[in-house]
Amino acid sequence: MRWLVELYRSTIGKKIIMAVTGLIGIAFVFLHMVGNLQVFIGQNKFDAYAALLHGPLAELLWVARAVLIAAVLLHVLMAWQLTRRARAARPVDYRMREAQVSTLASRTMRWGGVLLLVFIVFHILHFTVGAIDPAGVFHDTDALGRHDIYGDVVASFRIWWVSGFYLLAMAFLGLHLFHGAWSSLRTLGVARPSDHPLHRRIAAAVAIAVWLGFTLVPLGVIAGIVH
Ligand code: HEM
Repeated sequence: MRWLVELYRSTIGKKIIMAVTGLIGIAFVFLHMVGNLQVFIGQNKFDAYAALLHGPLAELLWVARAVLIAAVLLHVLMAWQLTRRARAARPVDYRMREAQVSTLASRTMRWGGVLLLVFIVFHILHFTVGAIDPAGVFHDTDALGRHDIYGDVVASFRIWWVSGFYLLAMAFLGLHLFHGAWSSLRTLGVARPSDHPLHRRIAAAVAIAVWLGFTLVPLGVIAGIVH
């Protein structure tokens, strides 16, 4: 037990927690993205999928929620602590600093992460709780009397600022995943150092797949393919 506390207190321990919780997040967003693409099959399929999650799979959903909430909280807490540690170790920034490989993704990890946190809170209040209901349809039901989540997705993304905010958040999610997927594998010792961002093929594939899969939904609504 002592070694666990010591690991938690060490910088590498905190980085390992960031890496593992980040990978849990990636697994969730990937599954969520695949589930969302069912919107292209139609209202019946999409509403049935939501009804399945909230009906027969409700207990499993709560287990997934608990794991996810713990992962997000730990991820944010470790980011906060590591940032404070880095600042305390070097209160005055280098006059000249050349990172070994600096990418837009690596430079936007902190602020992009804050934006994603704001997005996640907004998103849960929007589609899960209905406290934010820009289209005013959260309580509508479909022809079978089920919660019409399909109608909510379509009506919401027809509002320019809603789709604009989602598209922006998805771009930051893609960047966050590109750097995060690679650096978590580096922390865990799975990936070799790469001096060129384009050598990070797995990270690039994950980031592009997740970004594109999520982005297609609002784009599908804007283009009138999902209606
Ligand atoms: C176009 C993009 C997205 C769409 C259309 C979408 C759609 C939805 C919908 C419809 C729900 C409610 C499901 C239900 O209650 O039946 C939901 C829940 C949720 N989404 Fe998304 N989502 C998107 C992107 C994201 C992203 C990028 C994340 C995380 C970074 C995310 C995290 C969540 C979480 C945590 C929940 C709550 C799950 C729960 O506890 O029930 N979503 N999403």
